[in-house]
Amino acid sequence: MSIQIFHTDLYPTCFHLQTPGSSYVMGVSQDGLLIHLHYGAPVAQAENLTRAENSPWFPAKPGETLLDHVPLEYSGSGMADLRPAAISVEWPEDGDNIADLRYQDYALLPGKPQMEGLPQVYTEKEEEAQTLRITLCDAKGLQVDLFYTIFDNSDALIRRTRVSNKGTSPVVLHRIMSSALDLPDPRMELVHLHGAWAREFNEERMPVGHFCQCISSTKGASGHQHNPFAALVTPGCNESAGEVYAASLVYSGNFLIETDVDAMDQLRFTIGLNDWCFSWQLLPGEEFCSPEAVLVYSAQGLGHMSRTYHRLYQNRLCRGSWRDRPRPVLLNTWEGVYFDFNRDKLLHLAKAAAEQEIELFVLDDGWFGHRDSDNSSLGDWIPNEKKLGCTLRELAEDVNRLGMKFGLWVEPEMVSPDSDLYRAHPDWALCRPNRPATLARTQLILDLSRTDVQDYLIDAMSSVFESAPIAYIKWDMNRNMTEIGSFASPEKSAGEIAHRYMLGLYRVMETLVTRFPDILFESCASGGGRFDPGMMYYMPQAWTSDDSDAIQRLDIQGGCSLVYPPSCMSCHVSAVPNHQVGRVTSLDTRWNVAVMGGGFGYELNMTALSDEEKEVVRKQICTYKEDRGFLFTSELYRLEAPADGMFAYAQVAPDKSRFAVTCIRRMFRAQRAPLWLRVDGIAPDKQYVETSSGETYIGSELLSRGIHIVLDDVDFASTRLNFVEKK
Ligand code: DGJ
Repeated sequence: MSIQIFHTDLYPTCFHLQTPGSSYVMGVSQDGLLIHLHYGAPVAQAENLTRAENSPWFPAKPGETLLDHVPLEYSGSGMADLRPAAISVEWPEDGDNIADLRYQDYALLPGKPQMEGLPQVYTEKEEEAQTLRITLCDAKGLQVDLFYTIFDNSDALIRRTRVSNKGTSPVVLHRIMSSALDLPDPRMELVHLHGAWAREFNEERMPVGHFCQCISSTKGASGHQHNPFAALVTPGCNESAGEVYAASLVYSGNFLIETDVDAMDQLRFTIGLNDWCFSWQLLPGEEFCSPEAVLVYSAQGLGHMSRTYHRLYQNRLCRGSWRDRPRPVLLNTWEGVYFDFNRDKLLHLAKAAAEQEIELFVLDDGWFGHRDSDNSSLGDWIPNEKKLGCTLRELAEDVNRLGMKFGLWVEPEMVSPDSDLYRAHPDWALCRPNRPATLARTQLILDLSRTDVQDYLIDAMSSVFESAPIAYIKWDMNRNMTEIGSFASPEKSAGEIAHRYMLGLYRVMETLVTRFPDILFESCASGGGRFDPGMMYYMPQAWTSDDSDAIQRLDIQGGCSLVYPPSCMSCHVSAVPNHQVGRVTSLDTRWNVAVMGGGFGYELNMTALSDEEKEVVRKQICTYKEDRGFLFTSELYRLEAPADGMFAYAQVAPDKSRFAVTCIRRMFRAQRAPLWLRVDGIAPDKQYVETSSGETYIGSELLSRGIHIVLDDVDFASTRLNFVEKK
């Protein structure tokens, strides 16, 4: 890791940021423009990039001031660069919309300076990272600070933007991107993750076109439809070869990722807050911070990109006492009983779970107010003692006596119209005054842009968390924002309220996770509707999808693993026929898929299992407990499937002393050739013993020829093989 500053004739100040596998080079032109010179494979002599022959845009032709063909690091607005700008402003006093950003100075900062109020990657020791701050200014007093942080031993580059009004009149921000990148070659493909409820994280790839393509959310959450991640890859790029330029936004609300190829075939790639309806007034002396964007360059395909994100997010984004601890095996009540339970039923379930040596019993929705369906009571976080047959504390203590920890579901951000909270404070819901509010799942969203509502929520949740020995909280969120407005600030734009909501939510979460450091928090938004790096800063795991079918989960978890560490994914074994898609798969296959994630558990009626099934489950839990230390720290390699319609992955110990490969078939096809699965990520010169057969293999053999996979001749068959280094 290094940041070098150098000077050349054409570019009086230049910057070169180097990670083990990438170089990022910028130069300040003589007229103060910050020019992007290179992002990609490491360059030994960054000075060479500043040669006049390498800068065809200089000198400009006489009378020619268009900037459309110049690779700008962070383009201002209203001037001669007519591509999508990185920032767009308006000075209401005179209607001026220009941000003419010119270089002012830079600073090299040790470590990584932290922002207030937003989730972010952090350092544990200052020596781990270095930060470059470059300051650009507009003559009217707009100051734009660009921050770039690189870490030791990582190919991630963390960017963010801070805008300050140093002038004398107010300025309104309409758009502020966290990162903008001008790449010289448009022959790229865009990889991103799209989906819907119960069908999240589908990987899609398409060529970048000569127009503006955008991936975004206007849902008030990062959303099921698009994830705040995209990668530009060279055609043919696969898991282990090809170039990748990836960007991921550390934010949980409305976001925007754009690619734009201009008339001169240059590709602009931007990521940041969604500018949809967004305006933010900055008075003189005020500043605004964008969320962070985490860029990764990989010259070794998508696998290296994923593992770079996994390491950074698992170790330097997730925080707290659970960050490095393998998680307890849980039983969640949702798919087992839904809203239909009483004390006897719960204790019956809990006993069955305890017999299987489950470690955490999670009571999902339906324990409070008079909530026997999803029509009421959100906001009234008072346990329904009639239904529970006791206090929450008594129930939790009963569960504890069975040898398990107790966990609880909450959906704090919501309010049901049928609730005492709403009847007392109808103006606490997000809504445009004098407009009807749309209901979704018969609920409204609390206006977390308001400090009084945030404070209420902190108190309400603290009371719940203190009321019983609660070891785990599932924090759910089940609807999109609509009619975005605040009764407290009716004049503010939808985009501003949506962002203020996120800042309010982050404040609530920061307070609660700090106040309750021992609780394991899991975020959820109808499954993976807010599975993003922003949430990960507060809650180290997330419910990956409401679809718990093992076969659907292959795409869901495989896509999710493109960016997010498996340790953060909650994956449960559920009942068959599966409740979402009706498919019947074996317990083995359901387990083989679920052990990909660090939040492992069961979500079914344990009392309904046959004796034979109970035996299988007992063995699964025993094996999981033995292996979870290895699984939690292992590195994920998505493997090239041995045949069409198959999914395979390897979990490899960082020191390569041990690994497991899992292969799952979707549909069985008769008359097929033998299946050879090539492993990745292991040491070629080590000898490994496959534990079930006792056979010894050499790493190089498994890397090149692969292992012969034997599967039952049925749909949805799977196998999992464990290998340990032969000493
Ligand atoms: C949506 C979640 O994704 C489910 O797992 C479950 O907790 C329900 N909400 C409860 O209402």
